[in-house]
Amino acid sequence: MNATNESSLVLPFDCPNAALDKWIRKMAAICQPDEIVLCDGSEQEWDRLTEQLVQSGTLTRLNESLHPNSFLARSNPSDTARVEDRTFICSLREKDAGPTNNWKQPDAMRALLKEKFQGSMRGRTMYVVPFCMGPVDSPLALVGVELTDSPYVVINMKIMCHMGQKVFHKLGAHGAFIPCLHSVGSPLEPNQADLPWPCNDEKYIVHFPESREVWSFGSGYGGNALLGKKCVALRIASSIARDHGWMAEHMLIMGLENPEGNKTYLTAAFPSACGKTNLAMIIPPDGYVQAGWKTTLVGDDIAWLWPGKSGKLHAINPETGFFGVAPGTSWQSNPGAMHALSKNTIFTNVALSDEGGVWWEGLSAPPKHLIDWTGQDWTPDCGRLAAHPNSRFTAPANQCPNIDPHWQDPDGVPIDAIIFGGRRPNTMPLVFQAFDWTHGVFLGATQGSETTAAATGRVGTVRRDPMAMLPFCGYNMGDYFGHWLDMRKHIKRLPRIFHVNWFRKDAAGKFLWPGFRENLRVLEWIVKRCQGRIPGHETPIGWTPDWEDFCVEGLEGFTEEQFDAAMEFRREDFLQEITSQNEFFLKLYHSMPKELLCQHELLMARMA
Ligand code: GTP
Ligand code: SPV
Ligand code: MN
Repeated sequence: MNATNESSLVLPFDCPNAALDKWIRKMAAICQPDEIVLCDGSEQEWDRLTEQLVQSGTLTRLNESLHPNSFLARSNPSDTARVEDRTFICSLREKDAGPTNNWKQPDAMRALLKEKFQGSMRGRTMYVVPFCMGPVDSPLALVGVELTDSPYVVINMKIMCHMGQKVFHKLGAHGAFIPCLHSVGSPLEPNQADLPWPCNDEKYIVHFPESREVWSFGSGYGGNALLGKKCVALRIASSIARDHGWMAEHMLIMGLENPEGNKTYLTAAFPSACGKTNLAMIIPPDGYVQAGWKTTLVGDDIAWLWPGKSGKLHAINPETGFFGVAPGTSWQSNPGAMHALSKNTIFTNVALSDEGGVWWEGLSAPPKHLIDWTGQDWTPDCGRLAAHPNSRFTAPANQCPNIDPHWQDPDGVPIDAIIFGGRRPNTMPLVFQAFDWTHGVFLGATQGSETTAAATGRVGTVRRDPMAMLPFCGYNMGDYFGHWLDMRKHIKRLPRIFHVNWFRKDAAGKFLWPGFRENLRVLEWIVKRCQGRIPGHETPIGWTPDWEDFCVEGLEGFTEEQFDAAMEFRREDFLQEITSQNEFFLKLYHSMPKELLCQHELLMARMA
């Protein structure tokens, strides 16, 4: 296919939608792929593409008896995480992107991108991936079409979202779609051998929120390349949600059923690699299981929320798979995830065992020999990590044994609690409750966390990450806070809002709270507070649990002193915290809602 003129180009399939047909031809004329292939998300397509990727050296087929139908990919070492400094929100006006986003004038960015994409797919296939975020019959569902030159992206998208003919059906002849163009930015000259992981040193992850488009260049990894996920379901969706009275959030969704059979759904917004997948799939501690507590999972990364028929906020998970952090995942820490990734899974940047299985730090005792994520021999004493800290598994959500029966319900599930939290080595107690919705929005807006390997850059410094959305908000963060405050008027039965911190450490650097399954104890307190069944203890920062109301039965050796240390409110620490919050609010001063500035004053007054 050598046509560089869109009008002379004919697609090799029947496209049901004239606007889509035109857009594909236009993009093909720019990118100049050798061929165009329509993807349907079928098993046959999966078999064909995975086999092709094994032949080209991108994938290694894992031992069929250990991991049926599963594969390992090793990325280029320069392409292992989201690139926040190369991510742009190109709204018409700079102030609509706000000071926390990179911005470039849309026409200037378009011109630049057209140059980058010019001929970028030469020697490659352009795959057309129709996808739907959200259950196809949900009124919130968003249809997108990703054009990509990466077959690795296609097989990941098959796991992560609804794909194929049913999406074309929903789109129909005149429906709207979100155009998403993706290229690894590595054209092939005739007879040039391909690399196992083609990519480009120069990367652009670009969103046009007004025209609802995504252009991604140069990376094949995760949120940079699987455009339905962060680009559409968070950045573009957050902008659509603001216009239409709903919310797109970086949140897990889970259900918790108590021994009396009452089920409560909650969401939690933790920053990247701060424990959403772990909490979403939590299995109650043994004593709780025997007593009849049950947990279910709806989603582990993204929640779309709207005021539902019940008067509560309802939530759906727009995704159909997990793109979960591998290191730290084990049968002890997260059996649900281990079941989910046992078959039909793509692993990226983990280590390969001599048996053709996978390994990562925290899975089990280190084997004597591995091939590490860079393809080199690895032994326990070699001084290198076997798996990249941001290595991930892409696994179908319905392989998780406790997936909620309503996880694909277009009406979503009714939410009673929203939890904020992050990695805070000090200052933040294990759990506390906001006084009301506005105070809760303030807790979210002032949330902070240590940075993790999920994004490139420095790891381990505390930064403000409001609602865990700093890298994912498609518009001005101050306006986003305003939208949160506005939502209160439209929700008859407001969820209660909480803040948690599993990551507080003692002077020796040891976690003060055991975490993982034991987090259910905190959830129990949260649910009881939502149901008004126990009193809270009023402090300047919110309601906290009393030792008597917090269940530690079966938690061997966890004393009241340890509880107090995990819960401690230290005035000096909080004064520093307030200073840091203030610096962040100042940055957003021009768009900051007055209610949140007022919350700051109130907090200061309570502390005095
Ligand atoms: P993204 O997929 O990047 O959005 O992140 P996520 O929030 O789903 O992250 P995930 O659940 O995969 O977090 C993984 C990291 O959190 C691993 O390093 C875990 O060891 C750690 N982690 C999860 N839960 C706990 C906990 O309760 N306590 C402690 N100390 N660490 C935890
Ligand atoms: C995150 O970084 O929050 C993720 C992984 O969930 S990625 O899809 O790569 O953004
Ligand atoms: Mn995430």
